Amino acid sequence: MRILHWGLLSTARINRAIIPPLRLSTRNRLLAVASRSQETAQAYAHEWHIPRAYGSYEALLADPEIDVIYNPLPNHLHKEWTIRAMAAGKHVLCEKPLALSAEDVDEIAAAAQQHGRVVAEAFMYRHHPQTLKVKELIKDGAIGKLQLIRGSFTFSMKTEVNIRLNPEMGGGSLWDVGCYPISYARYLADAEPLEVFGWQVTGQTGIDDSFFGQLKFPNQVYAQFDSGFRSPYRTHLEVVGSQGTITIPAPFKPSLNETITLTRQETVESIAIAGQELYLGEVEDLADCILAGKTPRVTLADSRGNAATIAALLESARTGKPVHL
Ligand SMILES: NC(=O)c1ccc[n+]([C@@H]2O[C@H](COP(=O)([O-])OP(=O)(O)OC[C@H]3O[C@@H](n4cnc5c(N)ncnc54)[C@H](OP(=O)(O)O)[C@@H]3O)[C@@H](O)[C@H]2O)c1
Repeated sequence: MRILHWGLLSTARINRAIIPPLRLSTRNRLLAVASRSQETAQAYAHEWHIPRAYGSYEALLADPEIDVIYNPLPNHLHKEWTIRAMAAGKHVLCEKPLALSAEDVDEIAAAAQQHGRVVAEAFMYRHHPQTLKVKELIKDGAIGKLQLIRGSFTFSMKTEVNIRLNPEMGGGSLWDVGCYPISYARYLADAEPLEVFGWQVTGQTGIDDSFFGQLKFPNQVYAQFDSGFRSPYRTHLEVVGSQGTITIPAPFKPSLNETITLTRQETVESIAIAGQELYLGEVEDLADCILAGKTPRVTLADSRGNAATIAALLESARTGKPVHL
């Protein structure tokens, strides 16, 4: 069996989420880490028991034994380094958001095609059994005709120095956490929005500290969401249909054991879901694509739709007008 060798592009905090699943998976092996400084890379490699440490991102891409790059750079560097990694012959798992515009996703898609590499956006929640169950319930008509998806993802930012607060780095709550309810709503609606409208509360650095948005999908399906850095930690999703509702208390970061609620007329049913390690699914899915030619669960068309929707919502908040897509 072929083993895929992975390299971490930077010492980002989120690496700690992907390292355990890489170690759990029999088809994947974490081989190297790169940082902008050799000392940082070496200290990180020592701490996490990673065999190779590189003092530049270029050096990691030049390692011929690396098959897959995990790209957890600040948002504005996702496109550049994903394309550079593919040009160096690597497959890429890139953190969300894959890019900051639909056009940038198109450039990534063109590079993937040119270099014959697999690239996927790391929306880990999409691979979790809970998400697949919710989708199945809706497809099977458990709540009748889908009407409304309502979601929230907020937390309280503890520091004033963070890539999420920097407008030049693709900061803002919408790109950071609002992207989840938007992605979930598009997934359940099985369509791209026709029109969006949003309001934002702008923080001191100019990014959206909070965002409140609405999406209109075809077939009279609507979504409403909020995201933010200045509220308590909240995640929630409610899916409303003509015959019932599904409520999902932990939609975006589900754990090993979750319970969702299906309410139909007077019946309230708790559905227990045996989950899996949250970040394992994206690692295994990418391995299936590279080794067995599967299509990624999060396709580039899907990533394009999310980026286009977010860009349209930001435009709406700037102009105060609905934006048609
Ligand atoms: N899927 C999820 O659950 C999840 C959760 C959290 C974050 N994320 C995503 O992961 C990405 C990273 O988030 P994070 O919180 O892990 O970020 P972080 O800790 O700030 O890490 C970003 C890394 O990028 C490198 N870097 C390169 N140029 C930089 C620059 N100009 N300024 C700052 N850092 C620079 C740094 O590594 P070196 O110093 O080693 O070069 C830094 O450690 C974001 O895209 C975020 O949306 C996803």
